[in-house]
Amino acid sequence: MDKSVIVAIDGPAGSGKSTITKIVAEKLKLLYIDTGAMYRAITLAVIQHNLKTSDTVSVIKLAKNSTIGLKRIKGGSLQVILNNKDVTEDIRTQDVNARVSDIAKIGEIRKIMVSQQRQLGKNGGVVLEGRDIGTVVFPDAKFKFFLDATVSERAKRRFLEVKDKYNVTYEEIEQSVKNRDKIDSERDIGPLKKADDAISIDTTNMKIEEVVNTILNYISK
Ligand code: DC
Repeated sequence: MDKSVIVAIDGPAGSGKSTITKIVAEKLKLLYIDTGAMYRAITLAVIQHNLKTSDTVSVIKLAKNSTIGLKRIKGGSLQVILNNKDVTEDIRTQDVNARVSDIAKIGEIRKIMVSQQRQLGKNGGVVLEGRDIGTVVFPDAKFKFFLDATVSERAKRRFLEVKDKYNVTYEEIEQSVKNRDKIDSERDIGPLKKADDAISIDTTNMKIEEVVNTILNYISK
């Protein structure tokens, strides 16, 4: 495997991106970068500072003054660090879910995040997951994949993931997935969109290892 390779994996919430990207990176011995975690960390900072999403001037200032770190831990997962504090769990709450798409819609926030993501991946050897990796962050990535699944399947996966941690119903999760889909795909800058040259994979009826193998087969060809 070429150690300067860039693999882009995009898709909506619950498409299986995180689980699959982590395994693909592990198998190929490449660095895993979860760009959604970066938008989530900024959103958490906004919540901690009691800022309104509409107060874009303060939100942008806060993002410029925040540092986000992604550190690989045992099992290939990432520890997310915001201003030297471990926020790995805190960025996955319903509060963050409800606001992250509106924060990620702000053009200046995207500029800051995209520039940090390009910096992290500039030497290659990375697998990045997100919404705009193949279209905006690394349009020249050697391998691009777009994962998708039906809304009900994606909501079901998210519900199973969080039901023991948070007091939420399936209906609430489905609504939150639909809201994020809408905001993420309708925004003007870097919308959730398949790159023309990305390989589409519908994961609705696929097992994790089937998706992983499909991706690895394309890459090894
Ligand atoms: O992948 P995720 O669910 O953790 O992403 C959280 C949010 O971050 C998602 O609703 C949209 C935003 N996001 C984005 O706009 N661009 C990316 N490259 C990654 C995530």
